[in-house]
Order: sequence, then C-alpha cells, then structure tokens
Amino acid sequence: MTTSLKINGQARSVAAEPDTPLLWVLRDELGMTGTKFGCGAAQCGACTVIVDGQPRRSCVTPIGSVAGSEVTTIEQNGDKVLAAVQAAWTAIDVPQCGYCQSGQIMSAVALLSEIKSPSDRDIDLAMNGNICRCCTYVRIRAAIHDAARRLGG
Ligand code: FES
Ligand code: FES
Repeated sequence: MTTSLKINGQARSVAAEPDTPLLWVLRDELGMTGTKFGCGAAQCGACTVIVDGQPRRSCVTPIGSVAGSEVTTIEQNGDKVLAAVQAAWTAIDVPQCGYCQSGQIMSAVALLSEIKSPSDRDIDLAMNGNICRCCTYVRIRAAIHDAARRLGG
C-alpha cells in the first residue's frame, strides 16, 4: 500500500504496509538515519520527530496513521527554530555519546515552536520522555534557554 505525506517539506509516497512504523520508513526506506532507534516502545524518545507540529515517537507511529501529515525530522533544512536549537546545542556542547540527541533536539523544537520563552518547568515537562543515558539534562535545559534567546524569546 502507498502512503503519501510530506517529509521536511517534500511530498513523498511510500510503499509499505500501513502498520509499518514511521521510524523504519524514515531509516530503511528513505535512508534518513538521523532519527534513532532506542527502545522501540515509546519509552526513550530517541526516535522523536514532529508530526503536524507535535512531537511523536516514530517507533510506535504506523505509517498509515500519518497519511497526509507533515513530518519534520532532524534532517530538515531552513527551519529557523531547528537552526537556533542546533546552534545552541553546539555552543553549549550538549551531546556526550550523542545517541539520544536528535530526539532531544526535535522535542526542544516542538517546545519552542509552542512556547517562545519556556520556564524550567515547561522544559522539564516537555522533555520528560526523552531519556539521556549520559545525563546531559542540565546542558539540554541551558541550551533550550539559549535557543529561546536566539529566537528573541
Ligand atoms: S525508540 Fe521510540 S521511544 Fe525509544
Ligand atoms: S548523549 Fe548519550 S544518551 Fe544522551
């Protein structure tokens, strides 16, 4: 079955069973390996992408459920919020092993797209499901504040 959707602003048609996880489509069908597989059970956040403005765990999102949707991944170019978050991540040197970080960044982008100047509590709530085994949480929080400043929040 073919599913049509937009990924990073480009119309794509994907031939896959409707229950195929979006994560597998991104990585295996489209070669977009920036989105990571961690737990496969919506427990870690490594696979987070943005679907129609909301953060979603792509490992448990059937491709059939996102037909007609706009999906944004870490590979997106030209998005000012994503660019500001990536600049802040680099300036603050957030990643350690890096494995969780594309999911962290996409959750941060979703947060900053909704709340221009998030409080620590807003950040903790929004980032709650994104696990970092290297415990970079303090730098993540600082980088989100930095990104908000870069965006004028
Ligand atoms: S791989 Fe999707 S939440 Fe862990
Ligand atoms: S940087 Fe290593 S798991 Fe987060």
